Amino acid sequence: MKILIINGPNLNMLGVREPHIYGSQSFDSYFDSLKNQYPDVSFGYFQSNSEGDLIDCIQREGFTYDGIVINAGAYTHTSVAIADALSAVKSPAIEVHLSNVFRRESFRHHSFLSPVVKGVIGGFGLDSYRLAVEALFNSNK
Ligand code: DQA
Repeated sequence: MKILIINGPNLNMLGVREPHIYGSQSFDSYFDSLKNQYPDVSFGYFQSNSEGDLIDCIQREGFTYDGIVINAGAYTHTSVAIADALSAVKSPAIEVHLSNVFRRESFRHHSFLSPVVKGVIGGFGLDSYRLAVEALFNSNK
């Protein structure tokens, strides 16, 4: 199975950025442990702080992966264009968030992505990504 993880803006700062919300582990070190847990999965990874680059990645890779796990960061709450890109491609996507966005400011309660993805996982820190991988496994059975 091929799974692509896409991280949006500021997620390159995990471990440094607001650790009381996002934890103190970097994504790179988490990603190493995730890959070790799923040796049979071929993982791709892309991170960008730019909306257009995220869209280019979805368009480019969204026909070759069995699933996409996407944390679009703040673009979740603003980007019709990322939602349109996810709708345009074949790979099913799961939206993830480290934090429980519904326990936070009201501007984080709306997601443009939720209506176009298979499901949404949030609030479990970095473990949200593993839960999304499990969800993709189970939905492909
Ligand atoms: C986030 C939640 C977003 O509201 C925020 O802008 C982020 C991270 C999360 O993973 O909890 O950058 O997507």
